[in-house]
Amino acid sequence: MNKYTVFGNPIAQSKSPSIHQMFAEQAGLNIEYGRNLATKEDFIPTLIDFFQDPKAMGCNVTAPFKEQVAKWVGELSAAAKIAGAVNTVIKREDGSFLGDTTDGCGLVQDLLRLGVQIKDTHILLLGAGGAARGVLQSILALEPASLSIANRTQEKAEQLAALIPQDNFIGIGFNQLNKALQAFDLIINSTSASLTGELPAISDSVISSCTCVYDMSYADKPTVFMQHAQNLGVVNTFDGLGMLVGQAAESFYLWTGYRPNVAPVIQSLRSTL
Ligand code: ATR
Repeated sequence: MNKYTVFGNPIAQSKSPSIHQMFAEQAGLNIEYGRNLATKEDFIPTLIDFFQDPKAMGCNVTAPFKEQVAKWVGELSAAAKIAGAVNTVIKREDGSFLGDTTDGCGLVQDLLRLGVQIKDTHILLLGAGGAARGVLQSILALEPASLSIANRTQEKAEQLAALIPQDNFIGIGFNQLNKALQAFDLIINSTSASLTGELPAISDSVISSCTCVYDMSYADKPTVFMQHAQNLGVVNTFDGLGMLVGQAAESFYLWTGYRPNVAPVIQSLRSTL
């Protein structure tokens, strides 16, 4: 029986073990998938210890260890290099470790599943933290007409935009966004504001003129950002539960070569929120 786990702190709330067990059931595989609570000091020794077991084939890594593990693995995927972070470690046959990040894949696959077009559209990404950084490359790969990152702290948005220099990809502050005349087709909220029930301070007209809002957070009811957009007349509002399952599905595929069907897993998780 192959072994997997997720490292994080806190970790008790992680849905990864149940998601991966549902995937394994679909694939007809018998796997063990655990949870590992670690501290900054003991994370790497615990990780090394986990991989001493010849049955340990891979792990997921969540906050606050995604950057730390990126420095530990022998090789990084192109996406993980841009993100500067790893959420999936793959043990290869020769015993070496590849670090990848599947968050961007999870997001774009969820948008496609929901019928949200990316190619040739104007996209606004709110926030310039780790969550935004992890999805940039995947969004740009689908060739939107433009991708604008807007952040409360303008400098951080500019720094992210500088990672992938291209004319239709810019970083701005909320102030500039409120003055811009540009209308967006899709607004993606990657800020951590939803977690504390806050709204990013962008003007209502920016939101009301878009056709679709996607919040990377999720809860048992629409997030404050989704509710705000609905009140402003945005018809299509989605939360990030599908992204969570999508990033897990990509990890599972990297480990096993099996592509899980995400729809029943999203449905099952939704019923337990
Ligand atoms: P994560 O890994 O979730 O992206 P992070 O790296 O701490 O977390 O980044 C949090 C992001 O949410 C940042 O873009 C932050 O904006 P600042 O760079 O200006 O701090 C954004 N954020 C958090 N709370 C916010 C709020 N109330 N309004 C707007 N943006 C907020």
